[in-house]
Amino acid sequence: MTQLEENKPEVNDTPLVPIEKIVSLCKRRGFVYPNSEIYGGVSGIYDFGPMGVEFRNNIRRYWWWSMVQNHDNVLGIEGAIITHPRVWEASGHVENFVDKLVDCKKCKRRFRTDHLEPENLEQHKCPVCGGELTTEPRVFNLLMETYLGVVEGDRMKTYLRGEACQDIYLDYDNVLKSSRVQIPFGICQIGKAFRNEVTPGNFLFRQREFEQWDLQFFVHPSEMQKWFDYWKEFRYNWYTNIINHKDRIHFREHAPDELAHYAKQAFDIEYRTVLGWQEWEGIHWRQDWDLSRHSQYSGQDLSYTDPNTKERYIPWIVETSGGVDRTFLNLLLDAYEEEPDPSGKEPRTVLHLNPMLAPVKVAVLPLQKNKEELVSTAKDIHKKLQRLMVSQYDDVQNIGRRYRRQDEIGTPYCVTIDFQTLDDQTVTVRERDHMTQERIAISELPMYLLERVSFK
Ligand code: GAP
Repeated sequence: MTQLEENKPEVNDTPLVPIEKIVSLCKRRGFVYPNSEIYGGVSGIYDFGPMGVEFRNNIRRYWWWSMVQNHDNVLGIEGAIITHPRVWEASGHVENFVDKLVDCKKCKRRFRTDHLEPENLEQHKCPVCGGELTTEPRVFNLLMETYLGVVEGDRMKTYLRGEACQDIYLDYDNVLKSSRVQIPFGICQIGKAFRNEVTPGNFLFRQREFEQWDLQFFVHPSEMQKWFDYWKEFRYNWYTNIINHKDRIHFREHAPDELAHYAKQAFDIEYRTVLGWQEWEGIHWRQDWDLSRHSQYSGQDLSYTDPNTKERYIPWIVETSGGVDRTFLNLLLDAYEEEPDPSGKEPRTVLHLNPMLAPVKVAVLPLQKNKEELVSTAKDIHKKLQRLMVSQYDDVQNIGRRYRRQDEIGTPYCVTIDFQTLDDQTVTVRERDHMTQERIAISELPMYLLERVSFK
């Protein structure tokens, strides 16, 4: 059992889904595969399969739509993964981005000191086997090193970005000068980050290569509290909007001794799974740390002059920083259900994903595959829907099995073409969660579905 799994929640409500169920579904149905599996895999690194990539793109797009497209004062960038090495000195990561580890002398397990209970830490006692823990923690920097250049001796050591947001500070002045924005305004980015996590694990929860979504919102110091409160609430509502179990989300404020080196105040949006309450996204009061440090280390003046008052100052920053992969995992844990079958057959496995995020929006199913007219009508409908949304055509096995296959990947609507279709040009639309069925005219189908699967 991992350290996180030991931290099981005590609140009783509908059963929490074991991670293993999600790992198995993800492999079986093409959401996630272990990277380099044929070579035995690499701990903390994963690939996304055909369903996974659709789901992930929808999650990303919905974030972008809400944060950038729907805010006049927020713009997007896409920065590089490799930056000048001085960036990580200025950011404080070379000095401070560390994990402290102790080892058990008996069972040889390793523990992060910040994950141990105080009594285990004080008594140097292993929480798993009771053996003795080493007393002096070993310190590990999480930044992943890489080298630029090919000639030995001329190669420059740098790092893969340890947090994606640094590019936003690096491009802040360029965005300001090349766009018609003024403070207050924000810059968003979605991108990969890399950390040599010493305890990767729990599937997508703690990886070594993962993706973050960040907003850095630049404000006048006197408006910091107002914008901190605005984004804190906005982000909380955003997550609440895409989950089913609204009782499994809350805020947790960081105690002074757990604040990251750049944060003066921080709240985590946490979600409760079988791993306990865990961070999903951090809302950080970064103040002027980043722009001041980059001004100091680069020698470039990153202060802002208010065009109206002519006041000159270093903007303060509200950061909202979350994980795409953690969202992917939490949404699957939130959506997964094995419903007992009243007829006593195998339970129905269903993903109750929000329709706007589901990887496949609609499946088009001819009732029988040996009736040419049913098949050609179904293929025709599928081709038309495909231009608007992700649609799957399926004529393999009986209709019940086909519904089950779609339920398992969270497809919100199945359209069945039957003999009545040939007479009156209507189809049956079956809804995933309640398994209710409606008759809809083929001509109304695109609008019917679009209304239900579009971002809102
Ligand atoms: N720029 C601030 C920052 O990076 P963080 O709390 O270290 O803050 C933000 O990371 C988010 O990135 C976390 O809330 C989490 O969702 C995600 N994240 C962090 N480390 C991760 C890892 N090793 N694997 C997967 N997601 C991770």
